[in-house]
Amino acid sequence: MKKIQISPSILSADFSQLGNEIKRLEEGGADMIHVDVMDGHFVPNLTIGPPVIKALRKYTKLPFDVHLMISPVHKYIEDYAKAGANIITIHPEATNNLKESIDLIKKLNVKVGVSLNPDTKIDVIENILNQVDLVLVMSVYPGFGGQKFIPDVVRKIENLGKLKKDKNLNFDIEVDGGINFENNKIVIKAGANILVSGTTIFKENNGNIKKNIDFLKLD
Ligand code: DX5
Ligand code: ZN
Repeated sequence: MKKIQISPSILSADFSQLGNEIKRLEEGGADMIHVDVMDGHFVPNLTIGPPVIKALRKYTKLPFDVHLMISPVHKYIEDYAKAGANIITIHPEATNNLKESIDLIKKLNVKVGVSLNPDTKIDVIENILNQVDLVLVMSVYPGFGGQKFIPDVVRKIENLGKLKKDKNLNFDIEVDGGINFENNKIVIKAGANILVSGTTIFKENNGNIKKNIDFLKLD
């Protein structure tokens, strides 16, 4: 059983203090930093791009778990790798050639993830599961923090876990969206080993980040 890791999403952080917020997350025990990149086209919201990621790189040694909700994504991958991403996760719908985009991310010595929206079926990525480091299961429709967890995705997490076992693969299963102190147990039991959280980590228990991370980890 893989160790449960927490990847706090800075989408819920104070955007005027992102460097300090990242330091707070590291002090609070985060395993990596989930950076939600949105282009106002693939999703109806716009956040940050490579220059901001580059500026934030010096604030922590923790891995930047960069979630690219942008399309087309292929031509921008190198910019995020150069800016300091350690993991680049893309949506299959955002590239004309998923295999080519995966190969490019790996060529740049960055870990590669693919993300499944709530209504995207596993068979869209089944043939590349042996080439990725992680699968990011969206438990909300991407675009905003603070949304409600979609319980239907639990079955998808279980099915991914089964595929992983049947094919003897070792990718991480990361879940992203509406994770709180109730559903964290459900998604971990279903097979997730990395939890993304923005609202719960920054807002619960008067914003006590360490407490919220420990609660999510079931520590
Ligand atoms: C949504 C993002 C998620 C989101 C998680 O498009 O991909 O990472 O910020 O935030 P919460 O935990 O608030 O749902
Ligand atoms: Zn995300």
